[in-house]
Order: sequence, then C-alpha cells, then structure tokens
Amino acid sequence: MRCIYYKPLMTKKLFLKTLGCAMNVRDSEHMIAELNRIERYDLTQDESEADLIIINTCSVREKPVNKLFSEIGQFVKHKKKSAKIGVCGCTASHLGEEIFKRAPEVSFVLGARNVSKITQAVNSEKFLDININYDESEYVFGEFRQNPYKAYINISIGCDKKCAFCIVPHTRGEEISIPHEIILSEAKKVAKNGAREIFLLGQNVNNYGRRLSNGKRGELNFSQLLTQISEIDEIERIRFTSPHPLHMDDEFLKVFASNPKICKSMHMPLQSGSTNILKTMRRGYTKEWFLERAQKLRDMSPDAAISTDIIVGFPGESDEDFEDTMSVMEKVRFEQIFSFKYSARPLTTAAQMTNTIDDKTASMRLKKLQDRHAGLLDEMTPNYKDRVFEVYFEELRENKMVAGRTSQNFTVCVDGSEELLGKIKNVKITRPQRLILYGQVV
Ligand code: 5AD
Ligand code: SF4
Repeated sequence: MRCIYYKPLMTKKLFLKTLGCAMNVRDSEHMIAELNRIERYDLTQDESEADLIIINTCSVREKPVNKLFSEIGQFVKHKKKSAKIGVCGCTASHLGEEIFKRAPEVSFVLGARNVSKITQAVNSEKFLDININYDESEYVFGEFRQNPYKAYINISIGCDKKCAFCIVPHTRGEEISIPHEIILSEAKKVAKNGAREIFLLGQNVNNYGRRLSNGKRGELNFSQLLTQISEIDEIERIRFTSPHPLHMDDEFLKVFASNPKICKSMHMPLQSGSTNILKTMRRGYTKEWFLERAQKLRDMSPDAAISTDIIVGFPGESDEDFEDTMSVMEKVRFEQIFSFKYSARPLTTAAQMTNTIDDKTASMRLKKLQDRHAGLLDEMTPNYKDRVFEVYFEELRENKMVAGRTSQNFTVCVDGSEELLGKIKNVKITRPQRLILYGQVV
C-alpha cells in the first residue's frame, strides 16, 4: 500500500494599509485576492505578525505623501525581521525609484496601474514597475470584497481630463473604459453572491465608453451601462463615483432621475465657483453652467442629495473668486462637501503658477466655507425628523447600533444586531444630527 503524506500548506500573513479614494480600496481588494489565490496569503490586522506589509498610497494632496516615510519607519520598527514591505498606488507611481532611496527597507514599488503584477513584485528580490501606459483594463482579478453588501466594480481606469491641479492623470494614466461585457458579468456574479448594492468606480465615470483598450469607442455610454446594470434582478441599488459635471447631459440626468434602482445621491465636484478660476483649472465649465446643471438635477430629482468637492486657495484665487464659490454653495445647498486647501502637486501645470495664495488666507477661506456649510446643514437637518427613509444596513457600530445608508447616502443608525446587515428597511428618523440620522425601524 502506498502512503501519501500531505504537507500542511502554510498560509502567510498580509497586512495591508489603504489610503485615499474608493479606487484605491478596490485596488487593495484586487491585491488581496491575487495574493490569496496565488500565494496563499491571509489578511492580518496586526503588522507585527505579518510576512508582507503593503501600503497602498494616495498622492492627490501633499500630506499623505509626507506621512508615507514616517509610516514606513514605524513598520520597519515593529515588523518581523523577515517581513517584506511594498509600496503601491499613486505615490508609488509618481515617486518610483526615490522610494527605494529614501526607504531602503522597501522591497517593491508598484504603480497604481500595475496592480495585476502584485505576485511578481512579491516574489522578486527588488521590484519596480510604475508604467502608466500599462493596460490591465481587461485583466480578470481574483474575487475578494471587504464589504459583501456593497460591491465595488471598476468601469474605467485613468483620466484624460488633466485638470491643472490634479496629479491623477500622471499616476493612473490615460482613460480606458472596461468593456461592458466584463462589467455586466462581474455585476451578475456579485449579485449572485449576495450584494444588493453595486458601486461603480472610475475617475470620470460619466465619460464611460470614450475609449476601449483597442482605441475604439465603447458600445455603451454611461447612461446605457446604468440601465443595463439595473436590469439585473438581484441588484436593488446602484451608486457611482466620480462623475464630472461636464458630462452631466440631459440623457444622464434623465436616467439618474427616472431609474428607481439608481441611488439619489449625485457627486458634482465643483472645485471652484469662479468662472475665471475654473478656466485656469481647466475644468471645462463656467459657474453659470454648473448652476444650471445643478438646478436641472434638483428639478428632475427633487429627492436627490448633491455632494461636492471644493478647493480653496488655488493660485490666483481673489476674495471675489472665493465669494463666487461661497455663492454657488449657497445656491445649490450641497448636502455634503469635501473641501480642501489647494496643495501644489508635482507634474501638474498648476504647480508652475507663481501667483500662489498664502497659507493663512487659504486656511481662513477653508474655515469660512466649512463653517457656512455646517450652518446650511443645521438648516437642513431638522427637516429629516419623522421622515421615513429606506436604509440599506451594512455595518455594526458600537453600543449595539447598526448603520446603513439611505438612497441619498445619508448615514442612519438604529438599535439592532447582525440580522439587519444586508437588508433594506424603512427607518423613521427620531433624532437627526448633522452627520448621522438616528432612527427606528418601522
Ligand atoms: N489640492 C487640493 N485638492 C485636490 N484635489 C485634487 N487635487 C488636489 C490638489 N492638488 C481634490 C479635488 C478632487 C478631490 C478628489 O481631491 O477636489 O475632486
Ligand atoms: Fe483629476 Fe480632473 Fe481627472 Fe478628476 S477629472 S481625476 S480632478 S484630472
């Protein structure tokens, strides 16, 4: 009789820290899937027991880039002697080789457009690949999702816009749409696996279809893609980020307003309310155009919430320009704003501009903007009392509470337990606060 001895398969531990946007979250999921499928890594939350430490970085503003090297220093101090450290994402793309020079303990640097090479990077002594022309738009990654209730799906990579302040086109390269067949098949697969909500990701989602990998236009535009995804029975909610105001044509607004599966939450990144600044930013629209699109959206979809991104202190921004931004905020009454002080980024055209705004002025403007927005929220929030929202529960919170999102992307918390997770329930708001609406399932 022949004996077969099974050698137990050792699993290795991966500690992965993700900074930045939802695209990075999805890239991290792809790396985790590949490392698990091919290299048998399992995730750990404890860096000191990890065999591999990866930092997936963001470079959209300067602060997180500066933090990267002190963070690497901390990992070097606490890691197992044999553990490898890798730097991935947008900062890897733009710093490249410099990362090895400043942190020799790092063994691989992998750009934001080279995620599919993660196992090759891990298995090399020293590895650097930051090619922004590499095309992995049709690569089929393994399956891993941090949140099984809300499935992120990439629909495009890169960005062609070249806004003057933005480093992204230099780290993620030119815009390529992923073929709709791949997106639809992924959507069907996650739906079968229990996700009720799909979150479509791209730098410029509503420009979807502009160019496929083969250089041709895609068969579907973004509105048509949304419609086809909404025809998948199991999917109840569709979200997307980030759309560009320039591509918010009537067809798109109509599909957004009329399709009940599309969540009524629209991100309209304003950046500045001044037509002059918008021009130097190369955003492609004016203050009036933005206001007209936002009003049209409010008219067509009165229940929708609008969020935005705003930069203050862009080079040349006068008090008058800033007041234009304040006035757009006042008129649109954004339900949510993400606001930033301008940060000069390498490789961008704005970094060459000499008419910079001093930090004190930029800080004052940021505070004024945020204070007024808090005031607007204080005017809006009490109106949610006693309203009933459909809430999709996705996260356990402290004190036996469960959190979920309304279609408008408002966070709602109720008393409850795991059994609410993955379910959509009607919730009556009893205690609305600026950032969280507390309520009861009805
Ligand atoms: N400085 C400040 N904010 C920036 N953003 C992008 N680049 C910069 C920069 N150089 C902001 C924009 C963008 C968001 C993701 O980050 O508002 O929409
Ligand atoms: Fe950056 Fe503009 Fe592209 Fe957005 S649209 S990623 S801000 S270049």
